Amino acid sequence: MVTTVEPPSQKKAVLRETILTPRFYTTDFEAAANFDLSLQETEIKAMLEEMRTDYNRHHFERQQEFENYQDNLDEKTRNAFIDYLERSCISEFSGFLLFKELSRQLKSRNPLLGEIFHLMVRYEARHAGFLNKAMADFNISLDLAKITKTRTYTFFPLEWVLYTVYLSEKIGYWRYILIYRYLEEHPQYKFNPLFNYFESWCQDENRHGDIFKTLLRAKPQLWNNWRSRLWSRFFLLSVFATHSLTVRERSDFYDALGMDAIAFDQEVIRQTNNTSARAFPTILNVDHPQFFPRLNRCAERNLQLKAIDESSVPQWLKTMGKLPLQLGMVGDLLRLYLIKPIDAEATREMVL
Ligand SMILES: [Fe+2]
Ligand SMILES: [Fe+2]
Repeated sequence: MVTTVEPPSQKKAVLRETILTPRFYTTDFEAAANFDLSLQETEIKAMLEEMRTDYNRHHFERQQEFENYQDNLDEKTRNAFIDYLERSCISEFSGFLLFKELSRQLKSRNPLLGEIFHLMVRYEARHAGFLNKAMADFNISLDLAKITKTRTYTFFPLEWVLYTVYLSEKIGYWRYILIYRYLEEHPQYKFNPLFNYFESWCQDENRHGDIFKTLLRAKPQLWNNWRSRLWSRFFLLSVFATHSLTVRERSDFYDALGMDAIAFDQEVIRQTNNTSARAFPTILNVDHPQFFPRLNRCAERNLQLKAIDESSVPQWLKTMGKLPLQLGMVGDLLRLYLIKPIDAEATREMVL
């Protein structure tokens, strides 16, 4: 990515699509309109009240502290940070688009749910906008209007949306808070004021996750049968594997923060898995001796695949070189999926 651009013109970032690039989703709006909230109505109304309060109303107002920070970064850190901003912005924007469409479609047909999504739109727009402004400090911006029109949208049934958005909000919470806490202890690595905002920011994501937890618990078929147990394991493993692969691909960013990327990845996964026991019927046994070694091997093989892709050898040689790595990854993921999970319902103090 080109980062040296003369002002005042602004470079439009071109998003490099990979399997790990955050996706945009659409869902079954009819099912959402008919969503029965009665089992969780009290909790939902309490959360709605909390969201209306808008605790972080003034949190995302930029201060002068951002000026000139970008000039002091070496090129490697600068590129790693821009890549981080870009992917984070797309991820926040993906939530914004899905919630916006849900709020629009549900406004008259399911007003309670419609208002919840409407309020979440406000938060995600703030988050995406704040990241885009941080990119503008480097004279780079994402053309979000164009991306909205040109990117493909993946259809997920409503049930899948509930599982995956719950996980992405909670993993987002843990990512932000763990980086924030680390930088509180190691302020010498805080190379941009953006990190100061992570503490309150993560509380937004935590609240969003709690809303999705309540929606999941409002639908007993999402946690009281064998199918829901299999789906829970599948989505937990998918989100954790994506996280491990992405963290390893972005190791320059964690190096710049002086962080151990592997330890950070494992802590995020461990905490998100524990938190998920409040919503999901089963969680993964991350303490199993094979869990992290296999996940780690997948991340390493992914880096080798990337190196082959970027090499100049002929295509047929690339395909031959990639095949054993791909098979190895599939084998590891399958073995990870089959590790005996932990029954979260059995340990639940109170059946919601
Ligand atoms: Fe967000
Ligand atoms: Fe969120």
